[in-house]
Amino acid sequence: MESQTSKSQAIDLAPLRAVLEEKFRPRDSQEAQELIVMACQEAQALYGWVPPEAAQCIADHLGTTINRVYGLLTFYADFRTTPPGEHFLWLCGGAACYVMGAPKLIELLREQYQLTDHGVSPDGKLTLHIFNGCLGVCDLAPVIQVDHHHYWGHLTPEKLRDALEALRADGVAEEQTHGATE
Ligand code: FES
Repeated sequence: MESQTSKSQAIDLAPLRAVLEEKFRPRDSQEAQELIVMACQEAQALYGWVPPEAAQCIADHLGTTINRVYGLLTFYADFRTTPPGEHFLWLCGGAACYVMGAPKLIELLREQYQLTDHGVSPDGKLTLHIFNGCLGVCDLAPVIQVDHHHYWGHLTPEKLRDALEALRADGVAEEQTHGATE
């Protein structure tokens, strides 16, 4: 399925409607209330975030209000109510990465790319999440996982900036281990 991550793209609600019809058939209003979070999870799985049109669709289907849906969407940190950037950066905030220089990487991302934790860059190209734990590749510390598959390791602010500029230019995330012994 084609990614539906841009604000300018029309959201195709047909897949969500199909899921709602198939799986979400509450017997009463109490059960409908209990299904809102699960319905939002389905929407996020389909679109990568929960667009306003999808939130309204869920509200209509479950016989509740858009305010109720947004109340839950904003209560749970895992839900996205803005579209993700084209590239997803998962910066490891674990102890080894912290000691090896992750704070300097965060500083660069904040100052030069206006990226905050769980933020999207103004040009919509990058989404940053800071992972509060260990990504399991401490030998690459400090490390960023890019687009869920690639690792940029042994990063310095300069190497990160170069890698990000290459990513923004040609859209391809290459492994960047910078001297890793593999
Ligand atoms: S602490 Fe970052 S990979 Fe382990």
